[in-house]
Amino acid sequence: MTSLKIESQIPLSQSCLWQAQRHYFEEEGVHAWKQVPFFITSNPFIADRYARLIIAYLQDIQYDPSEPLYIVELGTGTGQFSYYCNLALKQYLQNPALAHLKICYIMTDFTVSNLSFWEDQSVFAPWFADGSLDYALLDVEAPESLALIKNKITLETLKNPLIVIGNYVFDSVRHDLFSVKNGSLYHSLIDTEIDAADYDSQEQKILSLKNIAFQYHETPVILNQEPQAPLLQHYQETLDEGEFTLPTSALHLLDFFKDYAPQGTLLISSDKGFNTIDELCQPHPRDLVFHGSFSFEVNFHALAESVKMQKGRALLQKYREGIKTNLFLSAQPETPFLNQAFASEINDFGPADYFRYHSHFKNQDPLDLNLILTQLRLSGPDPYVFSLIHAPLSKLIHTAKPALQQAFVDLIPAIFERIYPIPESTDHAFNLGFFLHTLALYAQAIPYYEASQRAYGERFDNCFNLGICYSYHHLPKSKAFFEAALPLASAEQKPQVLAWLGKWAKV
Ligand SMILES: C[S@@+](CC[C@H](N)C(=O)[O-])C[C@H]1O[C@@H](n2cnc3c(N)ncnc32)[C@H](O)[C@@H]1O
Repeated sequence: MTSLKIESQIPLSQSCLWQAQRHYFEEEGVHAWKQVPFFITSNPFIADRYARLIIAYLQDIQYDPSEPLYIVELGTGTGQFSYYCNLALKQYLQNPALAHLKICYIMTDFTVSNLSFWEDQSVFAPWFADGSLDYALLDVEAPESLALIKNKITLETLKNPLIVIGNYVFDSVRHDLFSVKNGSLYHSLIDTEIDAADYDSQEQKILSLKNIAFQYHETPVILNQEPQAPLLQHYQETLDEGEFTLPTSALHLLDFFKDYAPQGTLLISSDKGFNTIDELCQPHPRDLVFHGSFSFEVNFHALAESVKMQKGRALLQKYREGIKTNLFLSAQPETPFLNQAFASEINDFGPADYFRYHSHFKNQDPLDLNLILTQLRLSGPDPYVFSLIHAPLSKLIHTAKPALQQAFVDLIPAIFERIYPIPESTDHAFNLGFFLHTLALYAQAIPYYEASQRAYGERFDNCFNLGICYSYHHLPKSKAFFEAALPLASAEQKPQVLAWLGKWAKV
C-alpha cells in the first residue's frame, strides 16, 4: 500500500475531505440511505415533537399575517422527516384557534438528485398544490436567498420570524479544530495521507475515505485574525487544557440567517454532539466516524455561546448520550409557550429517549402483545416499527382477546398513512395486508395488497394473496390474480396456484 500526502498543514475546514463528502452525497443522492443511518432523525416520534415545538413557538411570536411563516429544513435527505412533520403540523393546525396560520414548509438540500426525488413523491403532491410545502436548493456551506421551486419565487429578506430545522446535517459539514495548552490557544492544522489507490491524482479527487490518515500540527492563534475571535477567546478563558472543534459552517449559517430573517430565527437541531464544556473536554477519538459519509460531533456548546454573545438564547437538552435536541433563538422576546414545550417534549422524554427505548424494544423478543401495542402507539404509529414485529405479531394475534385484536386493526390505517417510500425500503403495505389477512379480514386486506402492487409491482405473494382475498367477494378478480400469480410462482408454489385455478374452473 503506497500512501500519498495530499495536503499539508491546512485548517480542517479547508481540507479536501469536505469536497469528498460533498461528492459522496451528490453521487449517492437518496441511495446514500442504504449506508447512512437515518431512522433516528426520520421517525414519526421526533417529527411530532418538532411539530409541537413549532406550534408552541408560533403562539409566542408576533408576525405579519399577510406573509407565510416559513419553516426551512436543512440537509433534508430522504424527505421522510418532512413528511411526518407536515402530517403532524396539519393535524395540530386543525385546531380552530390555529387555523389562521399560513405555514410554508421548505425542504432543502444541496444535491439536485434529492430535490428530484421529493418532486416525484405522490404523498407530497396535495401539499405542493396548496402551497404549504415547497423545496429549494440550499448549501449550508454557502447559503443564499431561497428560490422556491413550486411557488416560483425567490424569498428576499423575510418579514416574519423563521423556523429552521437541522437534523444530522451540522455533523456532516465543515468544522475546525483548536486546542488550549497552558492558557494559550492553538489552531490544529492537518496533513492528510491517503492510500494511492484511493486517489485520482489527475482529477485531484478522493475516491474512498476509508484508509485516510491525519497528522496534526498546532499553530498559535492570532485572535484578531480569526472570524470567530470572541468564541475562541471564551474557550481560551474557560478551558485550562483541552481540544475542541468549532462547527464552522453552522456558525456561518446562523450569521446568514440573522440578516436573512431579522425578525428572529428559531433553529431546532438534533445531532450527535456536546452540550456542556465538560462533555466537550472529555477525551474523544479524533478519527472520523464513517457510515458511507463521515461525521463529526457537533459542538452545540459553541453554537449556544455564539448565539448568546449576539443577544440570543439557547435551550440545550439535559444530559443524553447519543443525539441531543437543542434550540437556538436569535434576538427576540421571551417565548413561554416554546419554553414549556421544550421542557415537556424534549427534556422530559424526547427523541433521544425514544430512540434508546426503541433500540431496547427492537433487541428484545417482543412476545407481549400489549407491549407491542404500546410501542406501536408510542412510535407514531411507525410502519418501520410494525415491520420489525409483524412476523411474530401475525403468529400471535390469534391468541389475543377480540378487543386487543381490534386495537391492532384500528391502528392499521394510521400506519399505512405513514408509509414514506424510499428506494429499497420494506413493502410495508404488504405487511399490513398480511396482518389483516391472518385475521381473516379479507376485504380489509385487499386495499393494502393492492397498494403493495402499485408500489412494488406484481409479485407472487401479492398476486396469490389477492387471489385468496378476492375469492370471498369477487370470483373473476380472484381468478385473474391467480392467473397473474402462476408465471411468478416457484416450482413448489405452482401446485397451490393450479389447485385454486382448478377450483374456479369447476365453478
Ligand atoms: C446525514 S444526512 C441527514 C439527512 C436528514 N436530515 C436526516 O436526518 O436523515 C446529511 C444530509 O445533508 C445534506 N448535505 C450535506 N452537505 C450539505 C450542504 N453543504 N448543504 C446542504 N445539505 C448538505 C446531504 O445531502 C444529506 O441529505
